[in-house]
Amino acid sequence: MGKIIAIHSYKGGTGKTLLSVNLATTYARRGMKVCLLDLDFRAPSLQSLFDLNSTEYWLNDYLNGACKIEKTLIDYTSMCECSGRMLVGLANPATEALRDMSAKDRKWEMRALGRLLSLKNTLLSDGDLDVLLYDTSPGLQYSSINAIVSADIVMVVCTIDTSDIQGTKRMTHELYDLFEKKTAILMNKVPTEFLSSPNEKESIYTRFNNSHALPILKVIPCYCDVLRAGGTRIFARDFPDHPFTKHVEDIATKLEQFTRNGEEPVREPINEPVVEANLSELQCQCNYERSKE
Ligand SMILES: Nc1ncnc2c1ncn2[C@@H]1O[C@H](COP(=O)(O)OP(=O)(O)OP(=O)(O)O)[C@@H](O)[C@H]1O
Ligand SMILES: [Mg+2]
Repeated sequence: MGKIIAIHSYKGGTGKTLLSVNLATTYARRGMKVCLLDLDFRAPSLQSLFDLNSTEYWLNDYLNGACKIEKTLIDYTSMCECSGRMLVGLANPATEALRDMSAKDRKWEMRALGRLLSLKNTLLSDGDLDVLLYDTSPGLQYSSINAIVSADIVMVVCTIDTSDIQGTKRMTHELYDLFEKKTAILMNKVPTEFLSSPNEKESIYTRFNNSHALPILKVIPCYCDVLRAGGTRIFARDFPDHPFTKHVEDIATKLEQFTRNGEEPVREPINEPVVEANLSELQCQCNYERSKE
């Protein structure tokens, strides 16, 4: 049966949405059947990225018990130019809907959890999907806790910000460990100069591991190209040779191994020549798009 992967973080803006979309696209381009759900009801963002203006039913409707999950799913397969299948479920970005979702009580959240848990049967077992990806809100909101409880694996996106690292540590004890979730960390938006030598890279790991025991799945630099794209491009589709896409492909493979075999993700090698060999990749990638023209 397929697996559910929740992408979560302590702080906002760490790259959850960007990574969820690119991971989903990568899996679909590998021929897998994927469904990506926007469970960030606080600040829905998938509809603008996928250029999907409206849908008859939102995930809000599903969680409210107003429709079946299938009604909310949009087939994005041809637009993501993949050999597999790509379905997307959107959260309603209308102001009324944001207000409505933020005013839900615990009883509603419990019912919503039941509906999320039932997706294992409807989408993974009966629907025959390989991967269900949840893009979540940061922190300890109920909607995120529900997403984590119903997931098989949590990928936590963390920056090198000290408060982010410490907050991630607290969440590990209070959330991921509590629900016995397989959890892996992804360090994102790391300044390129921090990755310019094995020693520098080692110090990133040390900074994190001093307060943490979770495995670091990957360290991704901060790319100007990604920032400049302003959340309007799917790198895994539009720029398959970009180093950011290569990182996402590697994460996709490691997560698959993690879900399939239950193996702890292998810590990224520090002293292997890959760090040296890719030094040019670590330079600011501002000219990448221009160089492709
Ligand atoms: N490795 C990276 N290099 C450069 N920019 C990045 C990188 N990762 C993410 N970004 C950029 O950071 C911004 C925030 O990313 P994103 O919206 O995915 O974060 P988020 O965690 O989903 O935020 P929120 O918590 O508000 O939902 C976006 O402009 C995105 O393109
Ligand atoms: Mg987001």
